[in-house]
Amino acid sequence: MDGNFVPPLVEVEDLTVSFVTREATVHAVNGVTFSVQPGEVLCILGESGSGKSVTLRALMRLLPPKRARIAGKMRVDGQDVLALNGADLRRLRGGLVSMIFQEPMTALDPVYTIGDQICETYIRHRGGTRAAARARALELLELVKIPSAASRLDNYPHELSGGLRQRAMIAMALSCGPRLLLADEPTTALDATVQIQVLILLRKLQKDMGMGTIFVTHDLGVASEIADRIAVMYAGRIVEEGPVADVLANPLHPYTQGLMASTVHGQDRNQDIDAIPGSPPDLRRLPTGCAFAPRCGQVGPECRIAPPEPRSPVAGRMARCVKVAAPVPAYA
Ligand SMILES: Nc1ncnc2c1ncn2[C@@H]1O[C@H](COP(=O)(O)OP(=O)(O)O)[C@@H](O)[C@H]1O
Ligand SMILES: [Mg+2]
Repeated sequence: MDGNFVPPLVEVEDLTVSFVTREATVHAVNGVTFSVQPGEVLCILGESGSGKSVTLRALMRLLPPKRARIAGKMRVDGQDVLALNGADLRRLRGGLVSMIFQEPMTALDPVYTIGDQICETYIRHRGGTRAAARARALELLELVKIPSAASRLDNYPHELSGGLRQRAMIAMALSCGPRLLLADEPTTALDATVQIQVLILLRKLQKDMGMGTIFVTHDLGVASEIADRIAVMYAGRIVEEGPVADVLANPLHPYTQGLMASTVHGQDRNQDIDAIPGSPPDLRRLPTGCAFAPRCGQVGPECRIAPPEPRSPVAGRMARCVKVAAPVPAYA
């Protein structure tokens, strides 16, 4: 074996999630495969409804157990996520992995101060005294660069601006020293200047702490800012993947090409990536072939037969498109 081999922190293989309701089955995630190395930022980029949040929630086992049918393999730090129970599952959610969301108010409790909430999380997972936890909370607020951190400890969430609330949520997520950070559009609700500050902060903390990160966004500008690698998701499938600079310089999949064409580089970060004509397919009735075919400018008859297999024209790149000239399967 290669002496430099570092086992992946996250390995997801052929993940499928569907939601079964009385009326229909929603095929939210349809055979997703990816991995994340320790210290690496993988960005999952896709428009609304493409299955990004469901993928993250599956990794944390946060999907409604009765409704969600989950198949495939998920490993975090070598542990089989779907086999975890009780204490092991709590350790996954509260220690190994942390998650931050778009809306800090969903993670922060309005009736407790920021300091109390960080202390409570810390003590629940790490134990120790109240005084030690409070010292740690102060350290964390300083780490996320909240000004006058000592006095902010006693603020309630509504007393902070949106940007500071987001920083407080990041502090809480980091309190137990996770090895994997899951970030679900954490900067989408912020205005452009605050958004870029929070992204720069997250990138620095992620590097300093060596955290593997899966960062979900619908915004190509955000992805280009934070990612090491990008996975482009469409209708519950990863249609393209590769190092961020390579994907941006030379997108292989027509969907990625469409996203690039509809985003003015670095100018309008909040622009929605919905400028491609048409709309995503109904997840209750996926097309037989490539799910993007109905919107694709380069569609041919072969695209309607079956979902394209992954192709890898060069090492580290993958696209699920029959037009990509590469005989080599990406996951061989
Ligand atoms: N608990 C649920 N029950 C039924 N359908 C769901 C549930 N959660 C998500 N979905 C559906 O799964 C699809 C993917 O959703 P999601 O992962 O949230 O998309 P996004 O890429 O915007 O994060 C959507 O069609 C959504 O309506
Ligand atoms: Mg989402």
